[in-house]
Amino acid sequence: DGELCLSRSLVNSSDKITRKAGSSIFQHSVEGWKINSSLVLEIRKNILRFLDAERDVSVVKSSFKPGDVIHYVLDRRRTLNISRDLHSLLPEVSPMKNRRFKTCAVVGNSGILLDSECGKEIDSHNFVIRCNLAPVVEFAADVGTKSDFITMNPSVVQRAFGGFRNESDREKFVHRLSMLNDSVLWIPAFMVKGGEKHVEWVNALILKNKLKVRTAYPSLRLIHAVRGYWLTNKVPIKRPSTGLLMYTLATRFCDEIHLYGFWPFPKDLNGKPVKYHYYDDLKYRYFSNASPHRMPLEFKTLNVLHNRGALKLTTGKCV
Ligand code: CTP
Repeated sequence: DGELCLSRSLVNSSDKITRKAGSSIFQHSVEGWKINSSLVLEIRKNILRFLDAERDVSVVKSSFKPGDVIHYVLDRRRTLNISRDLHSLLPEVSPMKNRRFKTCAVVGNSGILLDSECGKEIDSHNFVIRCNLAPVVEFAADVGTKSDFITMNPSVVQRAFGGFRNESDREKFVHRLSMLNDSVLWIPAFMVKGGEKHVEWVNALILKNKLKVRTAYPSLRLIHAVRGYWLTNKVPIKRPSTGLLMYTLATRFCDEIHLYGFWPFPKDLNGKPVKYHYYDDLKYRYFSNASPHRMPLEFKTLNVLHNRGALKLTTGKCV
């Protein structure tokens, strides 16, 4: 069956996983890996009981009208107004409607990608999903450049584009988006209060510069549904990371899912340091109790799925 068969003891020991990163429970052989198509279908069917990625990947224009007030998904007491700009950027229909792919890449942002030489392999997939507007050009040999779907947490504006304080920050941002052409830009705008100004600025820049990028804003139920699916499979994740969300959505569209850049540990299996991100100096923040994510537990889960042929996890070199 499609159950993950993660034992309770495994789940309870998730916090120890970080310390055990060098142990064999993290080993996954890519040689001899084979897709288990019946398991893939089973997982797709089970996830569909909780969400339909085709629909939940984005709200659509008819969901709201300008001026509507909605409650933040993870902060129900606070509200957001649907502005005219935001409304005008909502898609008429789901950007993933009827889209199906033989192989997909979901690219996480771990420093494990550096020196991986995975660029060509990543770009060879039919559909490539990336996270948080991560830069690609300077890292093309390791991460590739193709981006069919890319996420952007509102905090990225602050973190990577100087909060749009200078004209050059805005130019850099517009340049990055123009490289995406008509790919999907997925902005979780309704999760928590705090990023609304940034989302408005982003929307205004897209409209002003007539960028072709296809904006999508996840449905209000998506995150709860994803959490529900994993909880049912005994993976208690308070807030799924963007990478896990992307894998969960991709099961709807992709027959074969290949993950790269998933390694939420400061060292590799040989004890060599691994940067948190391949492209900046952000430090590991996900090991304290205050952190919203449980990336090590997520990783462990993805590793189990790799070993069962449901997905392919690459953490080594591609050539
Ligand atoms: N990731 C990972 N190991 C790392 C860094 C990231 O496995 N060292 C995966 C996670 O699934 C993460 C995704 O790659 O969600 C994208 O990374 P990032 O942009 O850093 O996500 P965060 O901003 O850290 O977290 P989120 O957007 O999920 O809140």
